[in-house]
Amino acid sequence: MPSGTAEILNRRTLASSHRRLDEVLRPGMRVLDVGCGTGAITGGIFEVTDPGLTVGFDIDVNLVRQAHESHTHGPCYVVADLYRVPFTRIFDLANAARVLQWLSDPGRAIESCISATKPGGLFLALDYNHEKIAWDPRPPLSVRLFYDAFLAWRSDAGMDNAIADHLASEFGRLGIADIRVTEQHERSDSLHANDKSRLAIWSSVAATRGHQMVRDGYLSELQREKAEEDYLEWIDTTAVSQTLYLLSVEGCAPGCS
Ligand SMILES: C[S@@+](CC[C@H](N)C(=O)[O-])C[C@H]1O[C@@H](n2cnc3c(N)ncnc32)[C@H](O)[C@@H]1O
Repeated sequence: MPSGTAEILNRRTLASSHRRLDEVLRPGMRVLDVGCGTGAITGGIFEVTDPGLTVGFDIDVNLVRQAHESHTHGPCYVVADLYRVPFTRIFDLANAARVLQWLSDPGRAIESCISATKPGGLFLALDYNHEKIAWDPRPPLSVRLFYDAFLAWRSDAGMDNAIADHLASEFGRLGIADIRVTEQHERSDSLHANDKSRLAIWSSVAATRGHQMVRDGYLSELQREKAEEDYLEWIDTTAVSQTLYLLSVEGCAPGCS
C-alpha cells in the first residue's frame, strides 16, 4: 500500500466503520481479520470478543508492524497473503473488510478465507461499489476526472469496481449458505465536524495512490495535484455530503447445519 495509507486506515473504528461486524460479535468468539491494515478495526474486535481469540493479518509488513505497535496487549498480528491463509478450521468468524476490492481473483481469496473457519463458521465481507458513489453537489471537473482515472486504473488491473454488488452471487457459487446482505453506506456531511476527515478520503487517495496512477500513465502529475487541491477546496466551500456505497455480505461456510 502507498505511504500515507495508514493515516486513512487509522481514522476507522469497529463502531464507526464496520457496524455489521460490531452487531454479530460476541465475547469468546475466535475471529480472523484478513487484510487488517494497521489494526484500527481489529483492536475493536479484540475488545468485544475478549477472552476469545483475535488474529489480524495483512500482506503489508509496515502496516502489520504498526498494528503490533498500537496493540501490544491484544490481537495477534501476522504477515500473510489472503490467497494462502495460514490457518485451517480454527475461527468462528473470518472478516474481510474493504480488502476483496483490491484483488483480481476475489473468489479464490474467499475460498482461502473460509478454509480458516470452523465448518459452518461465519464469513463476512464488507466492500464498495465505487461506481455508485454519490456526491452532493458534484465536485469540480478535475476531481471527477481523477475519480474516472482511478476507476479505469483499478479496472485495467483486474479489480472489480462494483464488487459489493457481486459478492452475494460469488458466495452462492462457492457453497456459502444463509447469505445475508445489509446496506452499510457511509454518508459524510460537511456540517458534521467529525465527518470532515471521512469526506477528505479522495484528497488522501490523490496524495497516496495518485502517485502510482501517475507513474502508470493514467493522469499527469499536474492533474493529480489539481484534483487534490480542488477536492480540499470543495470540502471547505461547497460540499454538502458524500455517500460511499458499501454492502456487508455474510454467510455460513460449508458445513452449516
Ligand atoms: C483498504 S485496506 C482495509 C483495511 C481494514 N480492513 C479496513 O477496513 O480499514 C486493504 C488492506 O488489504 C491488504 N491486502 C491487500 N491485498 C492483500 C493480500 N493479498 N493479502 C493480505 N492482505 C492484503 C492491504 O495491505 C490493506 O491493508
